[in-house]
Amino acid sequence: TAKLPSWPYSRYIAHRGGGRLAPENTLAAMRVGAEHGFTMFEYDVKLSRDNVLVLMHDDDVDRTSNGTGPAAAKTYSELAQLDFGSWHSAAFAGEPLPTFAAVARYTVANHIASNVEIKPCPGREAETGAAVARACVQLWQGADTPPLLSSFAEEALQAALEAAPELPRALLVEKVPEDWRERLAKYQCVALNINQKDATRELIDAVHAAGYRIAAWTVNDPERARLLLDWGIDGIFTDELAAIRPAD
Ligand code: G3P
Ligand code: MG
Repeated sequence: TAKLPSWPYSRYIAHRGGGRLAPENTLAAMRVGAEHGFTMFEYDVKLSRDNVLVLMHDDDVDRTSNGTGPAAAKTYSELAQLDFGSWHSAAFAGEPLPTFAAVARYTVANHIASNVEIKPCPGREAETGAAVARACVQLWQGADTPPLLSSFAEEALQAALEAAPELPRALLVEKVPEDWRERLAKYQCVALNINQKDATRELIDAVHAAGYRIAAWTVNDPERARLLLDWGIDGIFTDELAAIRPAD
């Protein structure tokens, strides 16, 4: 069996910061995640039109804000005027879109580990990967745990590898490709991040035997979480912060 890469991460990862308990990808979400005992968060990062790195999942702002249209068409100052909390619940009204820099400072100061998912606006894959990697080198200087970079966009991973080869990377896949070993090697990854539906004991063992870590999104059933952890999975991303948490 191959030697596994260092993995200074919790096996419990709060998806988008606060799971379903808070508006995703906001600082309010991070506080909820921390209150639930999580020491690692996953969040999605992309570039505004004027090249500010911000936290956002979708291509469009419609679902998670009171605005409309593609995030790619908006400057940071336009995005900063939107309400990214009211869509979730009144308690979070007025919650702003955080910059990646603000979230990095919050997580580093609170000794929280990060999985930074590079989620580029369409067509901006390489520049987003490079910008995230460069920003991480600056923002995590002196931090106890380096951020784990991941992406479904292989161009973004390639650019991150070129910009900051020293940062750990994970390949995110919607479906496990036949040639996952080759792809992990190509981007010098430490981990394969899969859809939890594809998680089997055999796959976990095969990924470990090949010398990589494996994590699964999004695990919201506590029994499923227990099973995957028993099988030796290295991380589970969850939205259910009350039912699936590090103390379990
Ligand atoms: O990074 C794990 C997970 O967040 C990937 O899917 O769509 O929730 O970003 P998505
Ligand atoms: Mg994500």
